[in-house]
Amino acid sequence: MIYPIVKYGQEVLEIQAEPVIAFDAELEKLVADMFETMYAANGVGLAAPQTGISKKLCVIDITSGENPSAKIVLANPEIVSTEGKTGLEEGCLSLPDIRAKTPRPKRATVRAQDIHGNTFSMTGEDLLARAFCHETDHLNGILFIKHISMLKRDSIKRKVKKMMKAGEW
Ligand code: NI
Repeated sequence: MIYPIVKYGQEVLEIQAEPVIAFDAELEKLVADMFETMYAANGVGLAAPQTGISKKLCVIDITSGENPSAKIVLANPEIVSTEGKTGLEEGCLSLPDIRAKTPRPKRATVRAQDIHGNTFSMTGEDLLARAFCHETDHLNGILFIKHISMLKRDSIKRKVKKMMKAGEW
């Protein structure tokens, strides 16, 4: 099932999500649906709150479905260490057509639980490090525009407001 993606402006995107407690068939179904939703939207990451479900769960695939072994599921993720700095452009499926240079670490290690509840750690570089940080942020109610300058953020907020008024958001 493909979920409609919740857009910026909805409360669910800006609150702390609830921890995942049950690692059951329902969770497996949600994860499968989140991958389907992410691929349909040509994204490389999707967090449960973007489907309207306030759970600490996200899916990532920086190969956009080209390599099945690149599928990553993170339940209750935490960034435990970071290294270096980059400032490449970043976007978010909840802020369609909006991109901004966003500071992120070059390398990031995330600790999370897998779909069965087993704890693991994984270190990513460049785009993967960015995805770990971006998606973990989502689960804490933080959007990427929080990391950019106030000036740029305000201009994005104005643009979104205008589109909301016009019924285009
Ligand atoms: Ni996002």
